[in-house]
Amino acid sequence: MSSPVDGPPPQGPPNIDLYTRNGFAGPMATIVRAQYSPPYTRVRGNYAPHRFDIHDVADAAFADPRALPVAVLDGAGVSVEVSRRTEPAGFAVRNVLADELHYVLEGEAALHTDFGVLDLHPGDFVLLPRAVTYRYASIGAPLREMIVVTESQLAVDPENAPGVLNVDLHVDAPVPDPTTNRGPGEYEVVIRHGQEFTSYFYDYDPMPCLATAGAPIVRRFNIENVHGLGVEQGGLMPPRLINDATTRTLFYHLGNRRSDRPPIHHNADYDEVICYVAGPGHYGAVDKPGTVTWTPKGIIHQGPEEDVPEGYEAWLLETRSPLSLTPAGREIGTLMETGQFDIHPSASQPV
Ligand SMILES: [Fe+2]
Repeated sequence: MSSPVDGPPPQGPPNIDLYTRNGFAGPMATIVRAQYSPPYTRVRGNYAPHRFDIHDVADAAFADPRALPVAVLDGAGVSVEVSRRTEPAGFAVRNVLADELHYVLEGEAALHTDFGVLDLHPGDFVLLPRAVTYRYASIGAPLREMIVVTESQLAVDPENAPGVLNVDLHVDAPVPDPTTNRGPGEYEVVIRHGQEFTSYFYDYDPMPCLATAGAPIVRRFNIENVHGLGVEQGGLMPPRLINDATTRTLFYHLGNRRSDRPPIHHNADYDEVICYVAGPGHYGAVDKPGTVTWTPKGIIHQGPEEDVPEGYEAWLLETRSPLSLTPAGREIGTLMETGQFDIHPSASQPV
């Protein structure tokens, strides 16, 4: 079979392959090669880069209003999940063992939380730390979310703030609203503990919050207010948006910006999950919002040009957890080449 078409080698020989430890933070070394390293002809086994469109998770998976998110990638203490809601949930959820980062790809909804109410809009990142209860109280337009669930403690902590994200101006918190009390009746709170669920029932509405004080716990910002800083010459690492003291689960902005195309590299410690969320510009071979690319740690890749004049929005999850596709992920995933993140030419061939 012919080699994958990744576009021309960006540098011409010699090609530099950058080996990095600890993501963008550890020792780095370059390997000079005569050949362009990302292309592979075929792969046997499951440890392979894939891409998928979260719209391809069948609507039937979410038809039941009690449906919970569907994991498409998971690993030690981390999962990447997809949620779709067309009607309010008749229950609240409290994840007691993991923090959740929700990204609203589509839709409008009112989210009740222990700390008050948030009106959700496309482009919102919502950090729901563990042990916070939340309920989808009303759905203005069908909601589609990508959810990263991690046992790590996450914090909104942008690098280069306020240039990248002005926390004082553009990171907000839920607003207490006692009028959300739904009155007498039976209420259910689903406690999520790992992959198991336990329901508590109440004869009063357990959600309304009259007031809060202290540190902001639930935090929200919109990708519209995140700015990619560029450089006139050379390359620039993507800016971190959300931090994790254990460095297991880190989130970066990956929208268009003036910077050289990323080097050919292999990331020794982090899986890279990129979520392309808005156009109109193409991010290499990716042009449909809701497309996710996954490159497992240690696999040589380059990735597309990020200096796209038409503009696009994307974000990057880096995780030390060794992810793998879940059964739902395998159903929608396609083998990916690692130059432009296109479908791999061998994907349509029998393995
Ligand atoms: Fe990478």
